[in-house]
Amino acid sequence: MMECLDPVVFFLSGALITGGALFLWAQTRRRTAYGRYVSAEGRCCPARLGWFLQEVPAFLLPLLLLLLTGGAGGAGGAGGAGGTGRTLLLCTFMLHYFHRSFIYALRTRGRPVPLTTVLYAAIFCSLNGFLQGHHLLHCARFDHTWLSRARMAAGSLLFVVGLSINIHSDLILRRLREPGEVVYRIPHGGMFHFVSGANFFGEIVEWSGYAIASWSLPTFAFAFFTVCSIGPRAFHHHRYLSVCLLHHHRYQTRS
Ligand SMILES: NC(=O)c1ccc[n+]([C@@H]2O[C@H](COP(=O)([O-])OP(=O)(O)OC[C@H]3O[C@@H](n4cnc5c(N)ncnc54)[C@H](OP(=O)(O)O)[C@@H]3O)[C@@H](O)[C@H]2O)c1
Repeated sequence: MMECLDPVVFFLSGALITGGALFLWAQTRRRTAYGRYVSAEGRCCPARLGWFLQEVPAFLLPLLLLLLTGGAGGAGGAGGAGGTGRTLLLCTFMLHYFHRSFIYALRTRGRPVPLTTVLYAAIFCSLNGFLQGHHLLHCARFDHTWLSRARMAAGSLLFVVGLSINIHSDLILRRLREPGEVVYRIPHGGMFHFVSGANFFGEIVEWSGYAIASWSLPTFAFAFFTVCSIGPRAFHHHRYLSVCLLHHHRYQTRS
């Protein structure tokens, strides 16, 4: 059983909040260079390998913590229902990253990812994977009150709804292309009926639900970072799609 490293948890959560705010500010000045916004000259990694390498640490680190440090006891040694709730919450986090690393990554039809993006994302996923895993397994305390149970139920429901929207919307995007094609088309169906950045919307709902269910600084910090990171992406894609619609034609990019 590992001791709770409170200063580390506090520092990493603060870094997520500060980093998120700075990233948001940077994206109001310049779009993140990836996908359709990346220049052809930069050094890139094939999309499947890049997504796998950058996302898999967020699955492996919590898994290792779970297996090696036997976290079901949690802070204060509260086992039983609290320990099970903790483990289940961590499993929802790992489920997302299992899907992202082993299913999304291996099926994507996206453009190559800049090497710097892969590197920064891998560092982010490693630190965040450790933070969420360590906090849930070794630090979090859960009260057995109706309020905490209601939060857990509502948050878990939001998480599942968000995850479903995210996966379904990414599937719609993938089906816009034939294998080997690099074109941009207007997505239809599912949540794209209501919002142009449906996959981002799903991810924001998902991590907001996770934060509500766990009700802790690290999970709120991660949800905040997600909004700051992909909120501007959704806005930039919306503007891009608006131009497509304005010109009433399909955008074909170089392959
Ligand atoms: N939690 C976080 O902080 C965080 C950060 C980043 C991403 N994510 C998640 O990771 C997933 C992917 O993110 P992303 O930024 O790469 O999403 P994205 O820009 O929407 O792209 C998703 C995939 O669909 C393709 N695509 C997008 N729009 C298309 C269109 N109009 N026509 C044809 N293909 C299209 C992209 O191809 P190209 O690559 O060729 O453009 C890419 O392969 C999302 O679910 C997102 O929520 C989460």
